Amino acid sequence: MTIKVQYLNKVGTQNPSKKQKLFTKFVVMRKDLIEVEDYYLSDKGFRIFTEKYLLNRGHCCMSGCKHCPYGFSKLIDQIKKKTKPRTMTFQEEILQGIPANLPSKALYDATINHAPKRKEILSAEEKTLALRNALRYFEPQHHETLIPEFKEELEKYGRIYMYRFLPKYRMYARDINEYPGKSLQAKAIQMMIQNNLDYAVAQHPHELITYGGNGGVFSNWAQYLLTMKYLGEMTDEQTLVMYSGHPMGLFPSHKNAPRVVVTNGMMIPNYSKPDDWEKFNALGVTQYGQMTAGSYMYIGPQGIVHGTTITVLNGFRKIGKEPKGNLFVTSGLGGMSGAQPKAGTIAGCITVCAEVNPKITKIRHSQGWIHEVIEDLDLLVDRVKKAQANKEIVSIGYLGNVVDVWEKFDQENVTIDLGSDQTSLHNPWAGGYYPAGISFEESNQMMADQPELFKEKVQETLRRHATAINKHTVKGTYFFDYGNAFLLEASRAGADVMSENPTLGREFKYPSYVQDIMGPMCFDYGFGPFRWVCASNNPEDLQKTDAIACEILEEMMKTSPVEIQQQMKDNIQWIRGAQENKLVVGSQARILYADAEGRTNIAKAFNDAIKAGKIGPVVLGRDHHDVSGTDSPYRETSNIYDGSRFTADMAIHNVIGDSFRGATWVSIHNGGGVGWGEVINGGFGMLLDGTLEAEQRLKSMLFWDVNNGISRRSWARNEGAVFAIKRAMESEPLLKVTLPNLVDDNLLN
Ligand SMILES: NC(=O)c1ccc[n+]([C@@H]2O[C@H](COP(=O)([O-])OP(=O)(O)OC[C@H]3O[C@@H](n4cnc5c(N)ncnc54)[C@H](O)[C@@H]3O)[C@@H](O)[C@H]2O)c1
Repeated sequence: MTIKVQYLNKVGTQNPSKKQKLFTKFVVMRKDLIEVEDYYLSDKGFRIFTEKYLLNRGHCCMSGCKHCPYGFSKLIDQIKKKTKPRTMTFQEEILQGIPANLPSKALYDATINHAPKRKEILSAEEKTLALRNALRYFEPQHHETLIPEFKEELEKYGRIYMYRFLPKYRMYARDINEYPGKSLQAKAIQMMIQNNLDYAVAQHPHELITYGGNGGVFSNWAQYLLTMKYLGEMTDEQTLVMYSGHPMGLFPSHKNAPRVVVTNGMMIPNYSKPDDWEKFNALGVTQYGQMTAGSYMYIGPQGIVHGTTITVLNGFRKIGKEPKGNLFVTSGLGGMSGAQPKAGTIAGCITVCAEVNPKITKIRHSQGWIHEVIEDLDLLVDRVKKAQANKEIVSIGYLGNVVDVWEKFDQENVTIDLGSDQTSLHNPWAGGYYPAGISFEESNQMMADQPELFKEKVQETLRRHATAINKHTVKGTYFFDYGNAFLLEASRAGADVMSENPTLGREFKYPSYVQDIMGPMCFDYGFGPFRWVCASNNPEDLQKTDAIACEILEEMMKTSPVEIQQQMKDNIQWIRGAQENKLVVGSQARILYADAEGRTNIAKAFNDAIKAGKIGPVVLGRDHHDVSGTDSPYRETSNIYDGSRFTADMAIHNVIGDSFRGATWVSIHNGGGVGWGEVINGGFGMLLDGTLEAEQRLKSMLFWDVNNGISRRSWARNEGAVFAIKRAMESEPLLKVTLPNLVDDNLLN
C-alpha cells in the first residue's frame, strides 16, 4: 500500500514543518497501522487524520474557527469529490442525529399538502430571538449558511421548520427490530414517531403536523433528528424529557419509569390565548401537540372512523330513527373530519359532507371515503332527494362551503335528520374555518395579509351558519356540536346559539355530542378508545390480535350487565368487520371502545400471545378523547354538571398516575381539539413484550387509567359512573372511592 501524505498547514505555507517530517517517517514505518491511502498531518505534527474523520467532523480539525486558516472547507470539497460517499444505513442515519455536514438545501415540494402561512405575529426583535433559538441546534460554523435560510422560512411561512434537515429516508412505521437502540421500549417510540409523520398519515408532513391543522409532533426537523438519536442510544435506565417538541435530554431514571415524558403547550394560564400559541410557537419555545399527534399515538383515520361510527349510530338511536335512507349533513374532509362520510356509510345512512379544499376532497374521493363529489348545489339537492327516495347508503362530498349547503337545503326543503360540523373551529383564524362567498385561495391570502378582515368574515359566516341550522332544527333536525368548538366560536361571533332557558352546563341551544351521546352512553361507563399497534408491522399480527380481542369481548358479553350490553355489541360487530373495512393507514393498528375490564383482559391476552411466540410485541395506547385523559369543558367533560368541568385535576392526575404505574411514555398537552387554552389532555403508550413485568404494568396502569375518570364522573353525580365505579370497587377490594350523596331538590328549593 502506498501512503500519500498531505500536510494541513496554514494557507500559503505548503512546506512540512520539522515535526511533520519526523512524524511522516514514523507513519510510513508503521503503515500497518494506517487504514487509508491518504492521510493528513496537522502542522503541530502529532495528529493524523483520516479522510473519514475529517468528513465526519465537518469542521476544522484544529480549532474550529469560522474562517479556517488551513483552507479546510476547500480540502473537504476536494475529499468529497474524490470519495464516492457511502450511503448510510437507516440506523446510522438515526444515530447521527443532526448531521455534522449540512445536507443540501431542500426544494419546497408543491405536491405535498403544506400548512398555511402562519400569521405575522413577531416583532423584529422577536424574529431575531426566533432565529437565535433555532440556531442553537447547530454548530456555529453553519450559522452563516442557515441564517438567511431560516429567516426566509420565518418570513414566508411564519415558522422555522428547517426543511433542509428533512430526512431522505422514507418516513413510515418499520418493524420495531429495524430501529437502532439498546431499549426495546425506545424503539417502539421511534416507530410511533415515524408513523405520526408518515406521508400517508400526516396532514402536513413537511411541517411535522399530523392533524388538526396545527397538531405537531415536533416544531422543526432538528428536534425530530435529535429525539430519534436520543431514542436510538438510550437505555432502560434513562428517561427522555420532551419540552413541547424539544428534546431536553436523557436523564437517569430506572427500568420501571417511563422512557419518555412529553409535555406540549404547558403555559402559565394567563398566557394561553390563541395568539400566545402563534407567538410562542413562532419563537420556537412551545407547540400545539393536539391530542395524539404530540404524543406519537395517532394511528391514522381509523380511530376517528370508529368513534364517529359509534356517534352516528347512537345519534340515530337517540332520535329513534334507522340510519337507512336518512340524512346526515356535516362538513370537513380533513384529518379527523374526513372520517364522517366513511362512518356514515358503515352506520348505513346518507351523508353529505362539505369541504372547501379541492386537494383534500380529491384525496378522500380517491380513498373511497366519499362515493361521489358534487360541485353544484342544484345537482346536490337532486342527488340527495333521489338517495332519500331510494333509501340508499351513500356518501357525497360537496366541494364548497358548508353554509351554502345548509341554506340551500332549507330553501329546497331537503329534510336533514342528523346535523353536525367538523370544520377546525379550535383554530378559527388560521385556516380552520373558511368564510362563505370567498374562494379558498382568496381566503388563504386574506388570513395572512388581512387577518382582521379575515376574522370579520369568519364571524359573519358563523352567524349565517347558525341561522341556517336553526331553521332546520325547527323543522326537526337533531343538531349536535362535534367537539370542534363550533358552538363556542359561533357564540363568540354573536350567532343565535344560546339556549333560551340555560342551565349550568347547558348554556347552548344544542348539546355537544359528549353531553347527549358519548358521555352518558360511553365515558361514564368507562368505555373509550383503546388502541393497539402491532410493532412487527406485520398485517398477520393484526389479524391475530383482532381475533383475540373479539374472542375476549364475546366471552365478557356473556356475563356483562345490561347497562353496557349495547356498547359491547357495537364493538364486537366493529371488530368482526374491522378487516373488511380496510382502515389501516400507516402502522398495523386497531381501535375499539372498551371499559377498564375489557382493556385489561385484551391486553393480558396479547401479552400471553407474545410470550407464546404467536405474535410480536404490541404497543398499547388510546386516544386522549377518553374517560379520564381529558378535561375539556365543551367536549370530553361537557356532561359534568357539578361545576368542575372547568378544572383540570383529572387530566393531571391521570398522567401522573399512569407514569408511576408502568406507562412506557406519558404525555400531557394544552390545547387539543377545541383550542389552545380550552383543554388539558393526556395519554400514554405502553409496550407489551410478553414479560411478567409487562403483565404487572398493564394490570396496574389500565385499571387506574380508566377508573380515575369514572370516579370523577361519579363524584359529579353522573348516574352511569356511580354504577360503574361501584362495580369496579366490587372487583378490586383495594379501590375505595368517595361516593356522592344526592340531595332532595325540595329541600334546596
Ligand atoms: N368529535 C371528535 O371526536 C373530534 C375528534 C377529532 C377532532 N375533532 C375536531 O374536529 C375538527 C376537525 O378536525 P380535523 O382533524 O378534521 O381538522 P382539519 O383541519 O384537518 O379539517 C377540517 C376541514 O374543514 C374544512 N373547512 C373549513 N371551513 C370550512 C367550511 N366553511 N366549509 C367546508 N369546509 C370547511 C377545511 O378545509 C379542512 O379540510 C377539529 O376542531 C377537531 O378538534 C373532533
